[in-house]
Amino acid sequence: MKLMTIAWRRNKIRIIDQTKLPAKLAYRDIGDLGALWQAIRKMQVRGAPALGAAAALGAYLGVKDVKAKTFPEFKKRLDECVAFIGSSRPTARNLFWGLERMQKEALKNKDKSIPALKKILFAEALKIISEDQIACRRIGKIGSRLIKKGDSIMTVCNAGVLATIDYGTALGVIYRAEKQGKRVKVYACETRPLLQGARLTVWELMRKGVDVTLNCDNMAAALMAQGKVDKVIAGADRIAANGDTANKIGTYSLAVLAQHHKIPFYIAAPLSTFDISIKSGKGIPIEQRAREEVTSARRVKVFNPAFDVTPHQLITAIITDKGIIRPPYIRNIKKLISNDKLKMSK
Ligand code: MRU
Repeated sequence: MKLMTIAWRRNKIRIIDQTKLPAKLAYRDIGDLGALWQAIRKMQVRGAPALGAAAALGAYLGVKDVKAKTFPEFKKRLDECVAFIGSSRPTARNLFWGLERMQKEALKNKDKSIPALKKILFAEALKIISEDQIACRRIGKIGSRLIKKGDSIMTVCNAGVLATIDYGTALGVIYRAEKQGKRVKVYACETRPLLQGARLTVWELMRKGVDVTLNCDNMAAALMAQGKVDKVIAGADRIAANGDTANKIGTYSLAVLAQHHKIPFYIAAPLSTFDISIKSGKGIPIEQRAREEVTSARRVKVFNPAFDVTPHQLITAIITDKGIIRPPYIRNIKKLISNDKLKMSK
C-alpha cells in the first residue's frame, strides 16, 4: 500500500500518527486547529516538507467554515490561524513558507467572494501537496547522480516518505538510486532522543526492501573509521543564505566526522526549505524541547535542542529540486533561487 503522510479526507486533515510507529501504522483525522497544533508539537506529524503541507491545510481548515462577510474580516481570521499554527514549532522554514503561501494567495484574490476565496485556498493547499511530491522526485533524480553502485550511505533522523508527502528528500535520493539498480546500503543513525532514525527511517526503508543497518548515534565515527561509509546524506529544516543548515540534532556531529574521514557530506532539501532572509546559521531559531524526552530523572539539568546547525564549510553540496548547489554558497544559492523566481514569473 502506498503511504501518504498527509492528505485531505472527508473535510479533515488525515495524518499518519508517527508517534505510534513502528509498532502500528495508525492514521489520525484532524478536524480542528487545536488538535493540529498538538499533533505538530507532539510530532505525530513532523519533518520540514510535511509540516509545510500540514500548515497550509491547517490554514484552510481554520477558515473553511468562517462566517466572514468582507475580505478584511476573512483575512483577520486567516492571519489568526496562521499565527497560531506558526507558534507550534519554530525551526522548519517550510511550515512558515506554507502559511505565507496561503496568505499571499488570499491577498492576490481579495476581490473574490468569500466562498470563492475558500475554494482558492483549498486548491492552494492541495497544490503545495502535489508540488512536494514532484519536488522530492526531482531531488531523488538529481541526487542519485552522485551515488555509485554499492555505495554505503549514512543518514540521520528521517528525511523520507514520513517527513514529506510520499517520497522523501535524503531518502528520495536513496529510493531513486535503488530503482536504478545501484544496490546501496544505508546506515541509519538512531537519532536520540526521539529515535526518528530507529523508528521511522528503518521502518520505511525495510518496507521498501532497502538494505538498512541501524547504528546508535555514537557509533558513527567507528563506522567511518572502518571505511564503511561512502557518503552522508541528511535533510534540512532551514538553510540560510550562506548555506549553513539547521537539521536534526546530531547532523553537525556527522558533518564534522565526515570531514575528518574525507567522506562527502550532502544535504538534500527542496527550495521551500531555504530562508535567504537569514544571513547565516546564527539567525536560525532552534527549538528547545521538553526535558522529559531525555530523562525521567527529576533533579538533573537537561539540554535538549531539537536541531543543530551545520556550518556550510562542512557541506560538500546541497541537492535541491532545481539542481545541485556547490560552494561558494552565498553566490550559488542566490543564483539558483533567482533563476527559479524568473522561470516562475514567465
Ligand atoms: O524534529 P523532526 O523529526 O521534525 O526533525 C526532522 C528533521 O530534522 C528532518 O531531517 C528534516 O525536517 C528534513 S525532512 C525531509
